[in-house]
Amino acid sequence: MSVIAVVSMKGGVGKTSVTANLAAAMAARLGEGQVAALDLDPQNALHLHLGFEALQREGVCRQSLQHRYWRDVAFTSPFGVSCLPYGSVSEGERGAFENLLASEPDWVQRQLAHAGLGDDHVVLIDLPPGPSVYLDQGFACADLVLVVLLADAGSYSTIIAMESWINEATLQRPGLESVYLLNQVDEAVPLSRDLGAVLRRRLGARLLPIGIHRDEAVSEALAFLQPVLFYDPRCQASDDFQRLAACLLESTAP
Ligand SMILES: Nc1ncnc2c1ncn2[C@@H]1O[C@H](COP(=O)(O)OP(=O)(O)OP(=O)(O)O)[C@@H](O)[C@H]1O
Ligand SMILES: [Mg+2]
Repeated sequence: MSVIAVVSMKGGVGKTSVTANLAAAMAARLGEGQVAALDLDPQNALHLHLGFEALQREGVCRQSLQHRYWRDVAFTSPFGVSCLPYGSVSEGERGAFENLLASEPDWVQRQLAHAGLGDDHVVLIDLPPGPSVYLDQGFACADLVLVVLLADAGSYSTIIAMESWINEATLQRPGLESVYLLNQVDEAVPLSRDLGAVLRRRLGARLLPIGIHRDEAVSEALAFLQPVLFYDPRCQASDDFQRLAACLLESTAP
């Protein structure tokens, strides 16, 4: 099993969109049921990107509090991805789950170990922005940390803090790898182009050679509760996600 944690310091950079669309593109390559998407963000939005319309009530938060298996709340999306929602919960439940995660640093890792996933499965984890108990759990079980950035000054200014988190996590787990992904790339905008070049100088090979272009089809696909690859297979973002899936599957192959 390969685990990819999708993280960022800033909110709204596209973590949930990347998690869902990358999971769908990986499932299109690997086959149905080979890719799982885990929502560890109380916003509970990931399942919407994967075709599940109803406000998802049951999920990993409540399952954890009731000491039940996560696999019992997994649903297979029409797009070949197995989705584990966070679930729609009260503030009290959210707080209790966060206390549990704080006291059991390998909780997520242990639940994934009991999820019946094989060695060749890939799990993508969607996380909230910034430091949190969810991020700590993601760092504790990930093989690869995928940091999502926008090509703007705001994202650039977060790199020092991001690198410090990653260095701290790597001290605990020396095999942990991390890469940066540029989202909403727009080559027609000079600032976006220039910051892309600055980031490449700063991060070198850790900035993935494939970025995701700004493409309205990404937001439109969400409005239709679909990954962009199914909403518009020929658009720029679909091509980007397919190439990104191929690139990451090659580098995370067991
Ligand atoms: N490549 C893209 N092109 C166009 N729009 C995009 C792209 N990626 C994301 N978006 C849009 O940006 C907005 C924020 O995306 P998303 O919710 O995935 O970000 P997030 O990082 O998960 O946010 P949060 O920090 O709140 O969890 C959404 O409206 C989404 O449709
Ligand atoms: Mg999100």
